[in-house]
Amino acid sequence: MLFRQLFDAETWTYTYLIADETTREAALIDPVAEQVERDLKVVGELGLKLVLVLETHVHADHVTGAGRLRELTGARVAASPSGAPCVDRQVRDGEELALGGLRIQVLATPGHTDDSLSYRVGTRLFTGDALLIRACGRTDFQNGDAGQLYDSITEKLFTLPEETEVYPGHDYAGLTVSTIGEEKRHNPRLAGRSREEFIAFMNNRKLEPPKKLDIAVPANRACGKPAVQQATA
Ligand code: FE2
Repeated sequence: MLFRQLFDAETWTYTYLIADETTREAALIDPVAEQVERDLKVVGELGLKLVLVLETHVHADHVTGAGRLRELTGARVAASPSGAPCVDRQVRDGEELALGGLRIQVLATPGHTDDSLSYRVGTRLFTGDALLIRACGRTDFQNGDAGQLYDSITEKLFTLPEETEVYPGHDYAGLTVSTIGEEKRHNPRLAGRSREEFIAFMNNRKLEPPKKLDIAVPANRACGKPAVQQATA
């Protein structure tokens, strides 16, 4: 499998490029609107054909590049049925998507948002904002639920083989990859914490809303198209 980790420095977002090296079919996970040209340049330079865009969830901190990539390449956009209504394919827990000879397994991991999915391809796991490296996504908007996130991480992600590589949707400390075993042992939100302790911690964080929340969520429900401008007198 061909694999690249791409970064958007403004929003600390990771985008992932995966491809079947034989058929050259490629997928982008969580592309960022401002990075569409960069992403397509890499796709072209590597001799790939973009056929799929996977969203882990409706993002609140950046606008997705999904719609623009779809327009430019004909790639299909996939996400959760509880997510953006603009997608071409709704994927559910346990489903598999084919990318050439690769199989992408869909895992529902709600809690950060109610539509959060993780994608597993071989030994790599793309966790969106459910499980971050030594952290996890916030749970205070978009139907987030700390108890549900605890269950998604401990009952679903932490039951995968320990050597599974964890590739998150963001990192704010310069870390790029972890493993399930490493997060079980060293993630301070989860290691040695009960469900009740986790919920109490998450519900008491009192974070500022993301800067782009009001723009990003409506735009992302339309696969990245700008929200309809309010008519002004
Ligand atoms: Fe998020």
